[in-house]
Amino acid sequence: RIPPEVAAVSDYEPLARERMTQAAWSWLQGGAADEITVRENQAAFQRLRLAPRVLADLAGGHTRLTLLGQSFDHPVFVAPVAYQQLAHPDGEMATVLAASALGAGMVVSTQAGLPLEGLARQAKAPLWFQLYVQHDRGFTRELVHRVEAAGYRALVVTVDAPVSGARNREQRAGFALPSGLSAVNLRGAAQLPPHTAPPGTPPLFGSPLVETALTWRDIAWLRQQTVLPIVLKGVLAPEDAVRAADEGLAGVVVSNHGGRVLDTVPATIDALPAIARAVSGRLPLLLDGGIRRGTDVFKALALGASAVLVGRPVVHALAAAGAPGVAHVLQLLRAELEMAMALTGCRTLAEIDQSRIWRGG
Ligand code: FNR
Repeated sequence: RIPPEVAAVSDYEPLARERMTQAAWSWLQGGAADEITVRENQAAFQRLRLAPRVLADLAGGHTRLTLLGQSFDHPVFVAPVAYQQLAHPDGEMATVLAASALGAGMVVSTQAGLPLEGLARQAKAPLWFQLYVQHDRGFTRELVHRVEAAGYRALVVTVDAPVSGARNREQRAGFALPSGLSAVNLRGAAQLPPHTAPPGTPPLFGSPLVETALTWRDIAWLRQQTVLPIVLKGVLAPEDAVRAADEGLAGVVVSNHGGRVLDTVPATIDALPAIARAVSGRLPLLLDGGIRRGTDVFKALALGASAVLVGRPVVHALAAAGAPGVAHVLQLLRAELEMAMALTGCRTLAEIDQSRIWRGG
């Protein structure tokens, strides 16, 4: 069931494209505006060079880690991606099964097409829940309690998309959710009142969306509602990461939402070093955006991340080969990470540090 010609993660991309409609493909691949950040996420990894070491003792090496008090076999996680049934009829269920088979952490999107309880019942590795705080805060509180009751182990609160980005590729392709697919876990949430500003006034400022957008006060409120650790997803500024530590949050995902919200922000791997310096170990950092190789995972860890999340490649494999494909992508990234560790003389993730990035000279 694994296509025999697949040797690397990127080999799933053309296979997925053949299987998805053009509109769904623009939704999956596309980013904001001119997609400069989408490309830059990968290009920035490709610009970095590794510094190999020889004759290091590799005996007893492994890729295990502890994050938020939870044990993982390796640092490659599945990023939250909405509506996975656009790629494969099994949708998020296939991804959960694959992540479990590979011992990979997975973050389930608020906009999953399947009920969060059913997904949690099938999971054998820890699941985290990605939360879009709803305008209806009462509904949000109930949702968080459902998430806790279902056994999720952390809340990943996405904070980089209070308003939608200019998703031009999607608009040009006329993408719309097919009937029968919806964010089932949000059923019953009160919707924002429609924006009734007179014509000619600015479209965003003054609108209910912006007037009720999430602030640090809401994050403090959310902490009161839950026993789960809270991780902020979508941080690029060192000041915001420091504030997250000051507020007692459990972690930060350095992310630009895969380039889907604001175009021309930097690649995540370029933003990471300054953030790592600023927080200096006060809270763990995760990173996503552009991870396509085990060497990318290695570079993120070398520059200060504890783990990474992978978005589009997981969905490519899901579209091409269902759950076995997703498991294969996670396996490939882990195997390539181990190769990079062995060839740079790193026995454990803790040994992957900045000295393994080539500085020239
Ligand atoms: C996303 N992402 C996302 N993030 C989130 O917090 N909630 C969500 O529902 C979604 N949905 C979503 C759909 C699609 C189609 C994509 C491509 C991405 C962002 C995702 O979690 C992650 O930040 C990026 O995908 C990482 O970049 P790569 O790995 O796709 O390059």
